[in-house]
Amino acid sequence: MVKVANVEFKDPFIISSGIIPLVSKFISNVCVKYDISGITTKTLTLSPLEPHRPPTVIKLEEGCYMNAIGLGNPGIETLREFQVKGDCNLIISIGGSGVEDIMKSAEKIEDIRRQNINLGEKVKILELNLSSPNRKGYGESTSKFTLEIVKNVSGVTSLPVFVKLGPWDNTIELAGKALEGGANGLTLINTIKGLAISKEEFKPILSYGTGGISGKCIHPLAVRIIHDVYKEYKPEIIGMGGVFTWEDAIELMAVGAKLVGLGTVIIDRGYQVINDIRLGFRNYLKEKGLKIEEVIGIGVRN
Ligand SMILES: Cc1cc2nc3c(=O)[nH]c(=O)nc-3n(C[C@H](O)[C@H](O)[C@H](O)COP(=O)(O)O)c2cc1C
Repeated sequence: MVKVANVEFKDPFIISSGIIPLVSKFISNVCVKYDISGITTKTLTLSPLEPHRPPTVIKLEEGCYMNAIGLGNPGIETLREFQVKGDCNLIISIGGSGVEDIMKSAEKIEDIRRQNINLGEKVKILELNLSSPNRKGYGESTSKFTLEIVKNVSGVTSLPVFVKLGPWDNTIELAGKALEGGANGLTLINTIKGLAISKEEFKPILSYGTGGISGKCIHPLAVRIIHDVYKEYKPEIIGMGGVFTWEDAIELMAVGAKLVGLGTVIIDRGYQVINDIRLGFRNYLKEKGLKIEEVIGIGVRN
């Protein structure tokens, strides 16, 4: 068991935002069949957003992808009808075009949680996506308002707030602003912006142009950013970025992650990989005679 923002998770493994389709039947199936401790929804916005045109996801190398779906989503209102089976915790990811928009989104989530009891009981954390690189005016463009956004959202939600940031030069500074504004923790890291050019047409392969790189090629970047942020503030961290094996998960926990998000690995290998990672992790702890809490931050020297 791991406790994050006073919420109990069965084990440290959750599914990151943007990986599971936003369909309650689908989420229920994954929750029950794979006994996952937590699922993060795709980032939702106040009004629906159209995804970019295909191609929106490409494979760069073995275990490395680049996507630009562009925060396409059916809007927060969709959650009103959600009925989720199983006992996994839900983390709702929201985004928007600025302080006001994101605050209104948080208010709407409060309203839906009061009205939809099934969902209300399962939602345990509100994640603010201030880091997606794939839509102008959203995601990383809103990170400059981190302090104001967190202050405002904290004032209207009763959920613990986690701020999701990217692997940038100013991530430590922004993490500080998020915590100053009242965030309960940080989710690190989102994808990092890249560009792939077609050798036939000499133009970007993704319809949006640039895309967010995810998977194995960003893993050392995730380890470094989580390490640096943990060292500076010792906050609660949901860590992610290229976790493909239980060894990768241990690495993120050793530098301070309490929960570990699985993302691209599920796209690449399927949901069964959750069981493999969990089993390897449990065996490792048993062999070493370690408890989960003893691993968190063990690799960070002050
Ligand atoms: C196809 C795809 C869609 C994603 N959509 C979102 C999203 O809607 N919101 C978000 O905060 N992150 C989104 N992400 C980022 C992931 O949640 C995660 O932070 C990132 O991919 C790094 O982890 P990974 O290397 O394990 O995939 C998306 C990633 C992928 C690959």
